[in-house]
Amino acid sequence: MTLILGLETSCDETAAAVVEDGRFVRSSVVSSQVDLHARFGGVVPEVASRAHVELITPVIADALVEAGVDFRDLDAVAACHGPGLAGALLVGVSAAKALALATGLPYVGVNHLEAHLYAAWLEEPDLEPPLAVLIVSGGHTMTVVMEGHGRYRVVGQTVDDAAGEAFDKVARHLGLGYPGGPAIDRLAAEGDPGAIRFPRAMAGEADFSFAGLKTAVVNHHRGRLRAGADAEPDTALADVAASFQEAVVDQLVAKLLAAADASGAPTLALGGGVAANSRLRARVAEVAQATGRRAFLPPLALCTDNGAMIAATAWWRLRADGPTPLDAGADPNLALT
Ligand code: KG4
Ligand code: ZN
Repeated sequence: MTLILGLETSCDETAAAVVEDGRFVRSSVVSSQVDLHARFGGVVPEVASRAHVELITPVIADALVEAGVDFRDLDAVAACHGPGLAGALLVGVSAAKALALATGLPYVGVNHLEAHLYAAWLEEPDLEPPLAVLIVSGGHTMTVVMEGHGRYRVVGQTVDDAAGEAFDKVARHLGLGYPGGPAIDRLAAEGDPGAIRFPRAMAGEADFSFAGLKTAVVNHHRGRLRAGADAEPDTALADVAASFQEAVVDQLVAKLLAAADASGAPTLALGGGVAANSRLRARVAEVAQATGRRAFLPPLALCTDNGAMIAATAWWRLRADGPTPLDAGADPNLALT
């Protein structure tokens, strides 16, 4: 049995987890900074870094206690080393390296995007490549064919906003607060997804685009306000949220299916914060069934940023490549290769 401690501090979640053999989550502690950033309407990098510094030690301690282990039981310490906010990444990377140095354990630097991909493997012992994976987060939107462990082919990616970014920006315009994804998801449940036909961009292409959709929703909403629609804002706003969400999900599902068709992958998987979206999950499960495929949807808590996905990825990476040198830094623009 191999136990790895994984740290995640690339954005606004300070997280640590202990994972056994790359699959079984022994503990996962996530301290969200959402309340700190909400009044700014988005993540403020400097505020995030400072909060990570304060939270990382107690979060690691909680993860070890929850897993019932101490440093002597661990086999490696891993941290997300990119992509993400430079100052925020440095906190997790420095903490993991310091622990590695103090304990003599190997250090493993983990790619955040690869980790979102590996979230599907957690708690799924019989998952096997090849997989067609849709990674949808606040910073990234891409389809990836995972041909084997460590072997990825990026099929399509967004040419402008990420899907999560579109949720967050539209939510801000609709006055729904931050983060926007969960707020729109909740409100959309009461709306009619067919009420307004917003544009579906890039039909027939592998890449994604959400900037035009966002503008269409914002213009529609402004038009409503000008027309004095505040009289019955709740139902109307729910229709806007549901129609916007449907346009995003239509595009995401179409591209995931196209990536699966082109690669012949018999399995679909989701990763990243937007993979928590209830409509996306339902639609992916539906198309998987309709096309005779299997769908792996990570549990909600493992879709948004967490340490378990970092520890899981580190287990596979350690076996394939060995430890990461302690003089390797963090890379805010790290690509998925
Ligand atoms: O993966 P993540 O936690 O952080 C990044 O790596 O970016 O993703 C955060 C994003 C945010 O944009 C948030 O609005 C979105 O995921 N999100 C959702 C939902 N939950 C989180 N979007 C749509 N529906 C949700 N239920
Ligand atoms: Zn993420």
